[in-house]
Amino acid sequence: HTYLVVMAGGIGSRFWPFSRTHHPKQFHDVLGMGRSMLQLTVDRFRGICSPENVFVVTNRDYTDLVQQHLPELPPNQILGEPIGRNTAPCIAYASYRIAQRDPEAVIVVTPADHAVMHEENFRDAIRTALGAAQMHNVLITLGIQPSRPDTGYGYIQFIDENVSSDDVKAAKGVDKSNFPKGLFKVKTFTEKPNLELAKMFVSSGDFLWNSGLFVWRADAIISAFHHYLSDIAEVFDEGYNELGTDREEDFITRAYTRCRNISIDYGVMEKADNVYVLPADFGWSDLGTWDSLHRMGHHDADENVVDGNALLYDTRECVIKTPSERLVVVQGLEGFIVAEYDNVLLICKRTEEQRVKEFVADVKSKK
Ligand code: GDD
Ligand code: MG
Repeated sequence: HTYLVVMAGGIGSRFWPFSRTHHPKQFHDVLGMGRSMLQLTVDRFRGICSPENVFVVTNRDYTDLVQQHLPELPPNQILGEPIGRNTAPCIAYASYRIAQRDPEAVIVVTPADHAVMHEENFRDAIRTALGAAQMHNVLITLGIQPSRPDTGYGYIQFIDENVSSDDVKAAKGVDKSNFPKGLFKVKTFTEKPNLELAKMFVSSGDFLWNSGLFVWRADAIISAFHHYLSDIAEVFDEGYNELGTDREEDFITRAYTRCRNISIDYGVMEKADNVYVLPADFGWSDLGTWDSLHRMGHHDADENVVDGNALLYDTRECVIKTPSERLVVVQGLEGFIVAEYDNVLLICKRTEEQRVKEFVADVKSKK
């Protein structure tokens, strides 16, 4: 009963001119791994959800591209939207469509433009969330330890239910390596706060980022639509019997003009009282390239983007991304990427980042 919904309708405008309207970033091999962001997104769920249960929601302009990228996907599981109405209508469409086919469905919703470095940890977290969602009427989001006051994210404050105070201490970022596997009740969910608020959230140590990965039963999210976005629920309730038939396309064309433009975060997650968060750590990033990380990340006075625990001397325009438990001391570097994960440390000129692909191939051939 496990289903995957991939939200692939964004145009990635922040990556322009890299990401173009006719070829947005989810169709790019951003990481130089020989697979597009979209393909990597579906690959990541291998062993959890097979192609016959995968649905991709995208603009109608991109349905052919999706089919090219995912030839194993049954064509009627590529759900084409006539216009972009943000993620709430996108999720409503997919959820109603899946519920109609399988009322007991448990759904994972994923963005199509994220990078995950540690896929086994990722799958463990998804399995934990699926197990909980199957049994309860809950809306689960995967939460990430924040590393900077980024205003582009949702911030989650959670409370401890059925966990020891040691676990709570760990969850507050005292020791990330002891991050509990448990699920926490969400106290507040704040989508895209202003900078002042984001700074407060991060320094308090009480908040997690919303990863934008959601897990819930089809009936749980549909009931949330009835409660919090009843106008959208009404539209899809009316067309329920058209879904999965040859009248679906016409119905969707009409339906979307009636849906307002709203994200699931503002529309449901901020308001619902059955939201839970699973803190997880799997090398998550919603950015594609190191350079985009440098451009879009939070710059210090010397134009460095630092995500980790670093002490910098005479260092400029670098991207430093290292695990926070490792103290990194850097002197005299200009325009470099310093990135560490697991047993690999990369030190590479930012202007040479296209060669990362070559390095990965070499590393693989040496295995
Ligand atoms: N099908 C479809 N239709 N997909 C869409 C649409 C739409 O109209 N709008 C956005 N998407 C897709 C994007 O392609 C992306 O994969 C995903 O939905 C999330 O949309 P974004 O526009 O990238 O959202 P965001 O990054 O501003 O914020 C969300 O993600 C953050 C983490 O990356 C929120 O969930 C935040 O709370 C979260 O922190
Ligand atoms: Mg995003």
